[in-house]
Amino acid sequence: MGRKIIGVLGSPLTEGNTAILLERALAGAKDAGCEIEKVVVANLDFQACNEMLFCREHDTCIMDDDMQPQYQKFREMDSLILATPVMTMGIPGRLKSFMDRFQVFFMAKYMRKSPFFTREEAQRRNGLFICISGMKVPEVFVGVKLSVQAFFDIIDCNYQDELLINDMDTIRDIRTRPEILDAAYKKGFALGKTVIASNQ
Ligand SMILES: Cc1cc2nc3c(=O)[nH]c(=O)nc-3n(C[C@H](O)[C@H](O)[C@H](O)COP(=O)(O)O)c2cc1C
Repeated sequence: MGRKIIGVLGSPLTEGNTAILLERALAGAKDAGCEIEKVVVANLDFQACNEMLFCREHDTCIMDDDMQPQYQKFREMDSLILATPVMTMGIPGRLKSFMDRFQVFFMAKYMRKSPFFTREEAQRRNGLFICISGMKVPEVFVGVKLSVQAFFDIIDCNYQDELLINDMDTIRDIRTRPEILDAAYKKGFALGKTVIASNQ
């Protein structure tokens, strides 16, 4: 039975505030009984989508780089935690390119109408979105959320929950806010429990 949760880190800082929140969420998922794996986008060697459209007819991308193993991994996982800071009111460029490369899943699902998951499998796949921003302005998460909701839809993950923390320019070190760390842990734990319950 599947119980694998992948955590994607979209920050270039592998030990920054986003990374700390992702670790807490993954710890929660692990304590709930799931197997966890972290994908650090900053450590992957890949290019942005070049629109070669090989994936219009094939179940993969023609670009032979570090995205290749991700496709299989994302087909096999049971749920996802995506964690990123806001940059220029949107998704950081490298993470955005990572997400764009899942055009492979888009083509299968929407163009060829031959999705990688059955309806039942898709219903069991959930996503938790964690995001932090420097500023405390009303619309700071609007751009990132639109992209993440589209990405979750493309890879067949239901947008189950989110943890959006603004004002990081004031907070500076997330470790000074144990209640936020606790919220990340609890949301990861809840996602993990959902995975366990829906795969029994
Ligand atoms: C290039 C860049 C662009 C940023 N753009 C925004 C922005 O548009 N809005 C905002 O609220 N914060 C912005 N920030 C601030 C980050 O969201 C914030 O510093 C966050 O805590 C970084 O998380 P990390 O340390 O885990 O990478 C930006 C930071 C960088 C480096």
